[in-house]
Amino acid sequence: MASTAIKTTNLSREFGAIQALNMLSIEVPAGSVFGFLGPNGAGKTTTIRLLLGLLEPSQGKATVLGYDSVNQADQIRLQSGALLEHNGLYERLSAENNLEFYGRVWRIPAAERQVRIRELLTNLGLWERREEPVSNWSRGMKQKLAMARALFHRPALLFLDEPTAGLDPSSAARLRDDLEKLVEIEGVTVFLNTHNLAEAERLCQQIGIIRNGRLVAKGSPRQLRAQAGNPQMEVTGLGFTGQVIRALQDRPEVVSAAHHNHHLTIHLRESVDTAPLVSLLVNLGVQVDEVIKSQSSLEEVFLSLVNEEENSGINHD
Ligand SMILES: Nc1ncnc2c1ncn2[C@@H]1O[C@H](COP(=O)(O)OP(=O)(O)OP(=O)(O)O)[C@@H](O)[C@H]1O
Ligand SMILES: [Mg+2]
Repeated sequence: MASTAIKTTNLSREFGAIQALNMLSIEVPAGSVFGFLGPNGAGKTTTIRLLLGLLEPSQGKATVLGYDSVNQADQIRLQSGALLEHNGLYERLSAENNLEFYGRVWRIPAAERQVRIRELLTNLGLWERREEPVSNWSRGMKQKLAMARALFHRPALLFLDEPTAGLDPSSAARLRDDLEKLVEIEGVTVFLNTHNLAEAERLCQQIGIIRNGRLVAKGSPRQLRAQAGNPQMEVTGLGFTGQVIRALQDRPEVVSAAHHNHHLTIHLRESVDTAPLVSLLVNLGVQVDEVIKSQSSLEEVFLSLVNEEENSGINHD
């Protein structure tokens, strides 16, 4: 398989006056999980539909698994699995029969179907309940089964459109665990739409942040965090005198230092070693109880990017 699973160049789509996707250029390496993160209406589902050839671009192009999304969409759909807004399950059928049905649709031989059903349901912890009609199942279980359905024919690429939407936090976490495990076992490339930051951070090697159809940032979770804000150090203790604050502010790696009662906050220039600063505090007579070094969270990054875009959007258009 090509080492690039998805490549888009200026991919755009409008619906009347709405620019749903605006000049998207991304590359998703094979074997990775790419998270597409953005608020409601950002253009995430539109992007998946374009990549699957279910919609035509109004400008630009997409190559998926080496195939052109407009002229070779059949090949893309044959070699991809998708879990979109609807789970595609038959409520009256059992889990086993749902998968059996899809196996037949994909023309997988009977013996192989049996093996695959057992393997997927076992990996997802659903094997024991395979004979129950799906209508009796919880939402989380149904989502897992829908994931098994999307993976049944061993696609090279899996599209997931907000797979944990509507699940309670613990079911969502379990689904993420299972997804992580399946990605590893199946060696599949994943394009994951989500507006859940924890989900993106947990599962994705690369993240694209989209807002109003425009990509506003891309990179690994770590790169995005580093881009958004400097790390800081929180110190709890006694003895934060004016002299201590001045000594900190004189240090080249310190941007600012301020204290409030027993809490001292130091903003750092970059990801520096904090040990020398702790020694400095101790030498100046500070009684240090606790030191916490923190990076800005992906949530802060996301909000800062989205707000930036909001503030500058009018000038662009
Ligand atoms: N078939 C369509 N006809 C008209 N407008 C559409 C159509 N599909 C999408 N849009 C518009 O395109 C924009 C992007 O929609 P899209 O569904 O891609 O967003 P999304 O990021 O998936 O949002 P959500 O998180 O709510 O699912 C929205 O303004 C939406 O109303
Ligand atoms: Mg959507």
